[in-house]
Amino acid sequence: MKIALPDAEATTLLGQAIAPLLAPGDSLLLYGPLGMGKSTLARGLIRALTTPDEDVPSPTFTLVQFYESDPPVAHFDLYRLTRPEEAFEIGLDDALDEGCAVIEWPERLGDDPGRFLGADQLIIEISEQGDGRLATVSGVGRWETGLKELHV
Ligand SMILES: Nc1ncnc2c1ncn2[C@@H]1O[C@H](COP(=O)(O)OP(=O)(O)OP(=O)(O)O)[C@@H](O)[C@H]1O
Ligand SMILES: [Mg+2]
Repeated sequence: MKIALPDAEATTLLGQAIAPLLAPGDSLLLYGPLGMGKSTLARGLIRALTTPDEDVPSPTFTLVQFYESDPPVAHFDLYRLTRPEEAFEIGLDDALDEGCAVIEWPERLGDDPGRFLGADQLIIEISEQGDGRLATVSGVGRWETGLKELHV
C-alpha cells in the first residue's frame, strides 16, 4: 500500500491513524534515510496514545524512550546501535512482552530483524516524493490483514 505524504502534517496524521490500531506485541518498523520523517510519524503516534503536547524527544543517544500509555509504547532509534544483539540489552524484547515498539533504523537489527521481534509487524518505508514523502506500507502476521483497518 502506498500513501502520499505531501507535508510533515500528513506524516503526523499517518502516525495518529496507526495509534488506535496498535496492540501489545506489535512492532512498527520505520525504514528510510536520514531526515525522511520517521521521528515525525513516531511523535504523531505517541502523542495520540498519550497527550497532544507530550514531549517526544528523538531517542538518538538513549536509543529508547518508554511511554506509559495504553498500550505501553517504546520508541527506539537504533541508528547508534553498535551490534544487533545490543537490542536485547536496551530492552526490545521486554518492551514487546508488555507493549508495542516503534523502531527507527531497524536496519541496525541485521539481516534477520525478525529474531528480535514478535510475529506482528507493520512495516513503513518512507522515501522522497517531490517536496514531500511517499510511505510504502506492508504487514507481517496480523498486520497482513490488519492493513485494511488503516484509513488516512
Ligand atoms: N511528508 C513530509 N514532507 C516534507 N517534509 C517532511 C515530511 N515528513 C516530515 N518532514 C520533515 O522532515 C524533517 C525530518 O524529520 P524527522 O526528524 O522526523 O526525520 P527522521 O527520519 O526521524 O530523521 P533521522 O533519520 O535523523 O532520525 C523535519 O523537518 C520534518 O518536518
Ligand atoms: Mg528520527
